Amino acid sequence: MKSRYTLAKKVFLDSTDIDDYIEIPSSVAAYETLVESIEKPLKMILLFGRPGTGKSILLNRLYQKLKHQKEIYYFETPAAGEKEFFFRLFKILTGKEVPKNKEVNFSALVNFCKELRGKREIVFLLDEAQIYTPEVMEKIRLLSDTRALKFVVSLHKTEDEDLIAKEHFQSRIWEVIELSNASDDEQITYIHKKLLKKNLFEIANSIKPKEMRLIHKLTKGNYRECNKMLFTIFDICEYYDLNEPAKISYDRVSRKIVEMAGLKLGYLHV
Ligand SMILES: Nc1ncnc2c1ncn2[C@@H]1O[C@H](COP(=O)(O)OP(=O)(O)OP(=O)(O)O)[C@@H](O)[C@H]1O
Ligand SMILES: [Mg+2]
Repeated sequence: MKSRYTLAKKVFLDSTDIDDYIEIPSSVAAYETLVESIEKPLKMILLFGRPGTGKSILLNRLYQKLKHQKEIYYFETPAAGEKEFFFRLFKILTGKEVPKNKEVNFSALVNFCKELRGKREIVFLLDEAQIYTPEVMEKIRLLSDTRALKFVVSLHKTEDEDLIAKEHFQSRIWEVIELSNASDDEQITYIHKKLLKKNLFEIANSIKPKEMRLIHKLTKGNYRECNKMLFTIFDICEYYDLNEPAKISYDRVSRKIVEMAGLKLGYLHV
């Protein structure tokens, strides 16, 4: 048996695929700033925000949009270690593999990049950069000093640590772009656009402003939490639709269902 909620549920699976990208004003603004920053000389660009604020999907979009115009590379997750990271960089820059049992000679690599200045401009998008060690970050900075390489560094912002405060990112070479959780209105736009993209108009209309506000309160506007919440809400709706349809209304997702989802995800406690 199929339920109308089955597809709605799937809409909210986590995805950083650009086909799933939604134009939310703050994300669009961050995207435009990113594109401008990449055009500016001499910059390291820091994209930061709490987990689940849309950094990866934004980097992905940037990569997909620019890959035909620019020499650009997307490092989704950091390489296993410093050695592997520089192997990968070396291969991209020189087109050659590092010979077996050899390591990349860093100062030779810097000199190589100095030679590239004015001839090539290569952009690297480094996601999850909190995993890189300070030593690797320092080398990345030295490479960017050659002006042949430019880095967009994406980092988690955690509760207890404000990265901006870190000395490392305060120097003038850094341009900082921050992503935040969605406001009330932005979250509504996000939820509606996601559902409308799959032509789920009725379902989009069935979440009324009051319930939207509750969802925002419980998820604090975090996109990943919002996905989990909506997935769970439609999962519950699907269950009723298939087993006890008399207990739900297709016109309105009830507060009770939102609360049940909140309980299930641990946002609410009995
Ligand atoms: N503009 C957007 N359009 C569509 N989906 C989005 C958007 N922003 C965030 N999301 C959704 O939120 C989820 C979290 O986004 P993403 O993985 O990009 O966050 P992140 O900031 O990289 O998190 P982390 O720091 O944990 O890596 C994505 O799976 C995606 O479904
Ligand atoms: Mg990410």
